[in-house]
Amino acid sequence: MDLSALEAAAREVMEPSAYDYYAGGAETETTLRENVTAWERWRLRPHVLRNVADVTTATSLLGSPVTTPVGVAPAAYQQLAHPEGEAATARGCAAAGALMTVSTLATVSLEDVAAAAPDAPRWFQLYVFTDRGYAGELVERAVTAGYRAIILTVDTPMLGRRWRDERNGFALRDGMRMANVPLDASTGGDIGRGSGLAALFAEHDRGLTFDDVGWLRARAGAVPIVLKGVLRGDDARRGVDAGAAGIWVSNHGGRQLDRAVPTATALGEVADAVGDDAEIVVDGGVRRGVDVLTALALGARGVFVARPALWGLATGGAAGVREVLTGLTDDLAHAAALAGVPDVREVPRDLVTPA
Ligand code: GLV
Repeated sequence: MDLSALEAAAREVMEPSAYDYYAGGAETETTLRENVTAWERWRLRPHVLRNVADVTTATSLLGSPVTTPVGVAPAAYQQLAHPEGEAATARGCAAAGALMTVSTLATVSLEDVAAAAPDAPRWFQLYVFTDRGYAGELVERAVTAGYRAIILTVDTPMLGRRWRDERNGFALRDGMRMANVPLDASTGGDIGRGSGLAALFAEHDRGLTFDDVGWLRARAGAVPIVLKGVLRGDDARRGVDAGAAGIWVSNHGGRQLDRAVPTATALGEVADAVGDDAEIVVDGGVRRGVDVLTALALGARGVFVARPALWGLATGGAAGVREVLTGLTDDLAHAAALAGVPDVREVPRDLVTPA
């Protein structure tokens, strides 16, 4: 499917500053661009005569069955794209049999997102603020609402410098709020509004270390922890040794450290360091079925997209999200068949080679 045409259509219907917030990255946007081109630097070594009459894309992610390894990565403020925001994304994911990750910074409360698609598996992305009690409450709410994993974002001690947002004076629109974030008396009102955005990120806990994974595990009980934003094998190993059940290879869609390595480059190193001790998922620049197949070959079990889903949400609500996910999954099945891979759970590492 041609996601660039969908992005152009989304741009037409979105407020320019909201489009820029989603489309943009940090500073010169080098990592943002390279996330896409780094997948193109891999080549496939197709097998032949492997019986691809029935290609299956079904798999499981940390024990949750899904019809596709393609899931939706966390993205904040989805009412910027569609009035139903994250609730529509949840319905679109459920219709596609795909896993959704809900952001701490959602504009629909985590309980309401869960209620929008009660039977579908979903994960909750966590930002830890200096008020640890609040982070702990969020985790308990997510566990109670049936979220199947807590995704701790580890690449955001503070927000990246997004020049587009600075130029645009990006802020949430009136009537929109961060539904999971409480009022904060210190900023004189809802910290999720207007200039409060900067105030919110100033409250991120910059002191987080691997030792805090234990704290989080204790709060989450049996629900597994995934560390999102890992780009190095040694950090992945430390995370797994600290108790993470999953490692999410990500550079936050190029929105944090500009010139961070693209995920298609980092993934293999992380997979080698972790082996079978944890599940690996990845996001960043995934736009085609062949990207997904490449990621699976490099060791990912799940492959996540955010911007494509947001373009679907902006143009078509829940149905738009579903179409993006089923389109990418169809492309994956097509590529897998042509590459001689009947089961996406078993994509051999030597299916890919550097271009
Ligand atoms: C929030 O997580 C963002 O990347 O803007």
